[in-house]
Amino acid sequence: MGKPEASDQPGPHVPVLLAEVLDALAPLPGARILDGTFGAGGYSRAILAAGASVIAIDRDPSVLSHVERLSAEFPDRFSFAPGTFSELETLAGGRVDGVVLDIGVSSMQLDQAERGFSFMNDGPLDMRMTPEGPSAADLVNTLGEDELADVLYLFGEERKSRRIAHGIVAARATRPFESTTELARFIERSIGRRPGDAHPATRSFQALRIAVNGELDQLVEGLFAAERLLEAGGRLVVVTFHSLEDRIVKRFFDPEKGAPTQSRHLPQAKADPLRWQPVRQAQKPSVDEIARNPRSRSSTIRSAVRSAVPARTTSYDGLGVPKAWGAK
Ligand SMILES: C[S@@+](CC[C@H](N)C(=O)[O-])C[C@H]1O[C@@H](n2cnc3c(N)ncnc32)[C@H](O)[C@@H]1O
Repeated sequence: MGKPEASDQPGPHVPVLLAEVLDALAPLPGARILDGTFGAGGYSRAILAAGASVIAIDRDPSVLSHVERLSAEFPDRFSFAPGTFSELETLAGGRVDGVVLDIGVSSMQLDQAERGFSFMNDGPLDMRMTPEGPSAADLVNTLGEDELADVLYLFGEERKSRRIAHGIVAARATRPFESTTELARFIERSIGRRPGDAHPATRSFQALRIAVNGELDQLVEGLFAAERLLEAGGRLVVVTFHSLEDRIVKRFFDPEKGAPTQSRHLPQAKADPLRWQPVRQAQKPSVDEIARNPRSRSSTIRSAVRSAVPARTTSYDGLGVPKAWGAK
């Protein structure tokens, strides 16, 4: 294993693209904003400071100490609902003016070795955001070779997925994988490491985390739930951390981006009326932000405002969602 990077040292969660999130949400005093990924409450706190009310959601029970702090400071304007943002229509408890989603893991989750999210810390191969369901170790030790390779390839864009899966299946026959560093070292030995590149286990860990937590299904369901919840003029702001997620958000906001090119021999299909108008074009963190908070480096923010066109039912068509183990 290489030396941990400075960015992977324990520390509080630093909200990513915070100024851009506030600019896109424009929370006015009196507005009701739903923060679907509360984490350490960085976004919620800033929205409350702007005078709006916040309904926060998180699926991870370990955020409760941060919830208590904000509840004590803003007893009349802050409430918390444990659960997933795919259920945000019911958890919102009424109409809201804006929804923000900051997809992915928090620094607390990454830095707590016992959660098993990071190969920089030795811990059990877990990666679950909630204490239920199969863990990463369950997947690594029980999926068939092809199923495992598909998870690594489709959810991690790991080109050497077949080689890694083949090696894992052979190795686990003698001894099941139990820890994060054990798996990371095994992947490094299987596919090698080029100087200057990210750790060779990065893509596989991303893939396993997505599978364990059903993250792409959550994203699709959360986006459509927000579309149904928000009325005309309501804003949806989404921060993502890798290209699979960003592609889903981009195509959700603008279905034309995911539509296959039409044959000129067929009658012209009628364009679907737009449910979303961009607030801003997609933005990346500034060089300054990346220097201050290296974990922001792969983030992208997209934001749009809801039109009066009736909401869609949830549909995966045209979003480019890859299908591997556990996907709907
Ligand atoms: C990147 S952190 C959010 C950090 C937050 N914006 C802040 O400023 O502190 C993501 C949080 O979303 C939660 N989360 C991830 N997927 C979720 C889902 N589907 N439903 C609810 N919470 C989720 C994680 O447990 C984690 O606490």
